[in-house]
Amino acid sequence: MASVSVPQNPAAAPQKLTARRSGPLRGRLRPPGDKSISHRALIMGLLCLGETAVSGLLEGEDVLRTADACRALGARVERVGPGDWRVRGAGLGTLIEPRHALDFGNAGTGTRLMMGVAGGHGITALFDGDASLRKRPMRRILDPLTLMGAQVIAEAEGGRLPVTLKGAGEPAPIEYRTPVASAQLKSAILLAGLNSPGRTTVIETEASRDHTEKMLAYFGASIVSSPEGAHGRKIVLEGRPQLRARPVIVPADPSSAAFAMVAALLAPGSEIVIEGMMMNPLRTGLLETLLEMGADITVLERRVEGGEDVADLRVRHGALKGVDVPAARAPSMIDEYPVLAVAAAFASGETRMRGLGELRVKESDRLMAVADGLAATGVQSSVAGDDLIVRGAGGAPAGGGLVATHLDHRIAMSFLIMGLASQNPVAIDDETMIATSFPTFRPAMAALGAQFG
Ligand code: S3P
Repeated sequence: MASVSVPQNPAAAPQKLTARRSGPLRGRLRPPGDKSISHRALIMGLLCLGETAVSGLLEGEDVLRTADACRALGARVERVGPGDWRVRGAGLGTLIEPRHALDFGNAGTGTRLMMGVAGGHGITALFDGDASLRKRPMRRILDPLTLMGAQVIAEAEGGRLPVTLKGAGEPAPIEYRTPVASAQLKSAILLAGLNSPGRTTVIETEASRDHTEKMLAYFGASIVSSPEGAHGRKIVLEGRPQLRARPVIVPADPSSAAFAMVAALLAPGSEIVIEGMMMNPLRTGLLETLLEMGADITVLERRVEGGEDVADLRVRHGALKGVDVPAARAPSMIDEYPVLAVAAAFASGETRMRGLGELRVKESDRLMAVADGLAATGVQSSVAGDDLIVRGAGGAPAGGGLVATHLDHRIAMSFLIMGLASQNPVAIDDETMIATSFPTFRPAMAALGAQFG
């Protein structure tokens, strides 16, 4: 590999932002393209021959890093209009070795999926990221890739970034039982297994989002997913398929829609419509939970777009009550707990969210960041083992205070949403990370009537 130097990761200067109590939120919102599908669309484009046209791509920083990595591995990736991209693939088995470090910024998904891609090819690549990403565990990905024949040439303490990975030219077919419900882990193994001469099997005890499986099938791979135990899945992929370029339409991201949804539930008098939200059942845990809390949400116009179920949602302000959220629901709403905690702060009674251990290893330690943010805004909460318990105010909590976001976009957006309906404004220490997943958050929310600044 050409010699590479580890980038310095200069963080953008933090930008403080305040959200204040806003009048009723009104109007329609089309959330940006789904982040998970956007990463995968670019990666599939890299791995197949021919031109993959992607529409509705999320143009957030995380996804743009994946686009850069695809270029570094040999794809031509072009933006032809807003959300419209074309990828001309290098093709499975013929990736080129990157000449510089692959810097994924804040993006865990891009890093882990690309580790799978590179780990299944005979190339060496250096993976790096920002201060948040450098703290996140990569051992869970490197372990199965090593079983497949990849070698970890260098890593920071505890299997963290920067990591130099030498991929396996002929990855061994493996059967792997994932120790955590993680779509990133499952996807890394499947993407490495694509270039294996045999059959790769992944077994998960709790089903995680299935976008990789759906997309692999759509691009022509032979992949079968069947139920395993009470909540799990067994996925079997035949290696070395002929992947054919296909157009991808990216549906609206339920994890971004979540912020507008909760804002409209909390700000008195609000009524909004969220358009084109993906309704994949492995992503709708928040909707299910909010409905249990008594939320006034109506599902309108269910339809299929780009191979995924989507719907418009009408959301109206109303009182919420505390609920007990079972651990088994966590994979279907793993990124939505921070904003659910904000909704719970306004509900009457207690909300207990069970089995949130994985939140400790997201863009920040989200259990701690949420509990600290709630304390800073006058909301009572506690952490018991892996459970978060929020004691709702039965109306608007005090707010006020300055919330530390720890380079975490979802902590930033969640507490801004609180500030739109709490008694006093809520400030966050840094809004810059919002650009990783929802670059239009501020103008989109302002168009509904949200007040920031
Ligand atoms: C993602 C999977 C989830 C989620 C992340 C996106 C994906 O992570 O938190 O934002 O696109 O596969 P885990 O799979 O590690 O739970």
